[in-house]
Amino acid sequence: MIVFLICVVILTLLIYKYYQKSFQYWEKKGVPTIKPSIPFGNLGSIFGGPGFILHMKGIYEKFKSQGVHYAGLYTGAKPALLAVHPEAVKTVMNKDFQSFHSHGVEYDAKEEPLQAHLFNLDGKQWKDMRVKLTPTFTSGKMKMMFQTLLDCGQQLEDFVEKCNEKNVALDIKEVIACFTTDVIGSCAFGLECNSFKNPDAQFRKYGRKVFTPSLRFVFRRLLSAASPRLMKLFKLKFIQEDVSEFFIGVIRDMLNYRKTEKITRNDFLQILINMQETLKSEGKKPFTLEELAAQAFVFFIAGFETSSTTVTFALYELVHNQEVQDKLREEIRRIIKKHDGKITYDGIMEMKYLDQVINETLRKYPPVHFLPRKCTQNYKLPNGAEVEKGTKVFISVMGLHRDEEYFPNPDKFDPDRFSDENKHNIVPYSYIPFGEGPRICIGLRFGVMQAKVGICLLLRNYKLYPHPSVKYPIEFDNKSAVLAGKDTLLLMTERV
Ligand code: HEM
Repeated sequence: MIVFLICVVILTLLIYKYYQKSFQYWEKKGVPTIKPSIPFGNLGSIFGGPGFILHMKGIYEKFKSQGVHYAGLYTGAKPALLAVHPEAVKTVMNKDFQSFHSHGVEYDAKEEPLQAHLFNLDGKQWKDMRVKLTPTFTSGKMKMMFQTLLDCGQQLEDFVEKCNEKNVALDIKEVIACFTTDVIGSCAFGLECNSFKNPDAQFRKYGRKVFTPSLRFVFRRLLSAASPRLMKLFKLKFIQEDVSEFFIGVIRDMLNYRKTEKITRNDFLQILINMQETLKSEGKKPFTLEELAAQAFVFFIAGFETSSTTVTFALYELVHNQEVQDKLREEIRRIIKKHDGKITYDGIMEMKYLDQVINETLRKYPPVHFLPRKCTQNYKLPNGAEVEKGTKVFISVMGLHRDEEYFPNPDKFDPDRFSDENKHNIVPYSYIPFGEGPRICIGLRFGVMQAKVGICLLLRNYKLYPHPSVKYPIEFDNKSAVLAGKDTLLLMTERV
């Protein structure tokens, strides 16, 4: 027993010494830093405290008030860099992209094949895949997929009408997630998901599973930042086994079905099939089933939650700013009327105020509130300090978007910040809801289009109000990977 206790004391002392030594890293390089703590460094705590989102925004504000461009942080004992000033953000995302092109996600493709998708790929593999997938999102392709969006929209409208007739409140996040799941399910996998008709529909079920906030997820996120080696050692996975089996199975079935039935469609899956055919005809190594499934999977996970979150936050603000809601409805109705009473792709493009509302929503509530990069070759900061290859680099999107200097009165929801007269005042790289540079969101156009159609469908016929249970301002859910409110958002509808 005594021997055991002595071992524990020695081990604790060694760990303590290791952390103490590691925590001197940035100080020695003359890079401003703040006091970290054992074991998670500057990542905050899973228990108590302001929560991850506000904690990181607080760190941004602290360094920003000191006029710092780059700051040193610790994820666990490991040093990481925070790009604070928009000039530093520009350097990392664009100017010196070669040194920071990686998202720095550590994964084992053998253990978790679905993780080998565009967001997680690095270097040449990323570049080749990005070039191949880029044509998926041209405006021509968007136009082709627009009808699919409207078909899914019909189910959204039917559902809202039923709730309205019965005077039942809408759980708006769930309602919009059903809509965006149906859209992405149809466009990325070629499947009718029927999330509205069947609440247990498989795609909605697994989509919910990927994004339901859990302590397990928060713990793994902190552990993977603090020590990817431990994640590997214990074979801890980010994607649950059944989720992985489901998505790979769907892709296998759909590929076989299209091949045997000789079916072609205007969707993401077809683009992946065409890519495969081209590789074969050029005598190059075709993608494995898992590699194909990973790309469809990232369209699904990156596409449905970000867009549904955007619509949810937009509606949250619109019910608390009725004059903005009325002005937007007036625009939507006027332009639909001009297009023979139909929602059309060109009509959506003409809706300027809708664009401003979406932009302001993404400013105040960026779904991806925190962006990662990894230094891929040793890099000298302006003060001469060297950032070593392998160092993680972070950008606080939430910090920038709520910075008083770039967006005066930042907590006010004001779509006029993005009007033609005002938008030139926005400081470059202070507004980055889709990231920036060569790694900017590949699905930007699709995400925005999807969100706009969702809002049009709801506002053209209904006035929306908050249910008495809804609180303002919002409280964020700190366990969620994508920005989300903590409480269920219930909205009431009135046909107008
Ligand atoms: C409002 C909706 C959306 C938001 C706010 C959003 C935001 C983002 C952000 C911030 C990034 C990281 C960019 C960077 O690191 O610089 C990203 C990357 C990505 N997004 Fe989106 N996104 C949205 C919709 C979509 C949709 C609809 C899809 C696909 C159908 C999609 C697919 C992707 C992919 C594949 C990447 C990785 C790109 C790469 O690493 O090359 N996103 N998105």
